[in-house]
Amino acid sequence: MKYHKLLVLSMLSAALALTACSDEVAPAKRKNYAVQVKEDIVKTDYQAPVLANVVGHKNADLIIYGSRLLNETKRLLPENVGASMNCNSCHIASGKEEKGAHYLNSFYAYPKKMPRAGKVIDLKARINGCFQRSMNGKPLDPNSKEMQAMIAYMEWLSEGLPKGAKIKSDIGGQINTKLVPDTIRGEKLYSQHCAACHGNNGEGLNDSRGNIVFPPLWGDHSFNIGAGMARTYKAAAFIRDNMPMSVQKHGGWGQGAVLTDQDAVDIAEYFTHQPRPDFAGKVNDWPNGNKPKDARY
Ligand code: HEC
Ligand code: HEC
Repeated sequence: MKYHKLLVLSMLSAALALTACSDEVAPAKRKNYAVQVKEDIVKTDYQAPVLANVVGHKNADLIIYGSRLLNETKRLLPENVGASMNCNSCHIASGKEEKGAHYLNSFYAYPKKMPRAGKVIDLKARINGCFQRSMNGKPLDPNSKEMQAMIAYMEWLSEGLPKGAKIKSDIGGQINTKLVPDTIRGEKLYSQHCAACHGNNGEGLNDSRGNIVFPPLWGDHSFNIGAGMARTYKAAAFIRDNMPMSVQKHGGWGQGAVLTDQDAVDIAEYFTHQPRPDFAGKVNDWPNGNKPKDARY
């Protein structure tokens, strides 16, 4: 009995000593979110699922394919992607990160009326909107296996939740739009906080195999002027919450919380207004008015 206690104690202290000395990066803790259906909270401990656990799922192959397509879009779908961009270049941490334009609610959020389209659009059309604008490319065939796979991935994120459920996790994109941007200041802050990865000319960086390491922020290989990210305040909220990107020891992916709202607005005004591809479909946007003030056309 006594021996056992001693053994346990010594093992414990050894373990403690190890943790005290180790400087390993602790895996980010998965966050719990509440889930709402209409007015009611139906769950308080939703966690985004982990791909490693998908093995054995009846739809595993399609979900894994969808996950790959979202992470390696440029390489796997060169016909549909014009920019040097993957879906998850903007949808941070495989579309699971709070304020990182996550897909957690996408499966149930559509069909939905969108002011930009002036009509109700379904999830396939929403995805194709990102293909045509953010990826400066061509839409996928709505009946293709690729479209089904991306949707299967998004459906899996809300697996087990009742129809119409909303995971209470902020998708991001909100910032004070009364802040007046200062481009000169933005340019200085850009070289200080962003250029190391995204380049002095916003060109980004590919590895020797052509895979995207840092996606471009402007130029021919970036998103076009029709993208949400081309709008000053959308981009400002995104970079305030997710950039400069780094892996940190605690909390979520990305860093965020480095830039003030004003910094973010200044930098965003600077990089969004650099040259980038045009978007022919712009003539059809906001047919019923209410165009936001930072729209590019
Ligand atoms: C340049 C950045 C960027 C890229 C690249 C991009 N998106 Fe998006 N996407 C956005 C932004 C910004 C939003 C709007 C999020 C919001 O509502 O605040 C969005 C919205 C969405 C939504 C709707 C989310 C919701 O629940 O309302 C889906 C689904 C989506 N994107 C899928 C994709 C797919 C699939 C790809 C690749 C083909 C892609 N996106 C590429 C920036 C991007
Ligand atoms: C340490 C490297 C690093 C720094 C510094 C950094 N980023 Fe990023 N950024 C990334 C990576 C990596 C991605 C793609 C996300 C991913 O792959 O998970 C990204 C994605 C983006 C995107 C969306 C994709 C695109 O190309 O449009 C924008 C916008 C962006 N960064 C802006 C900025 C701005 C502005 C700054 C400075 C405030 C900044 N980043 C600093 C690494 C960095």
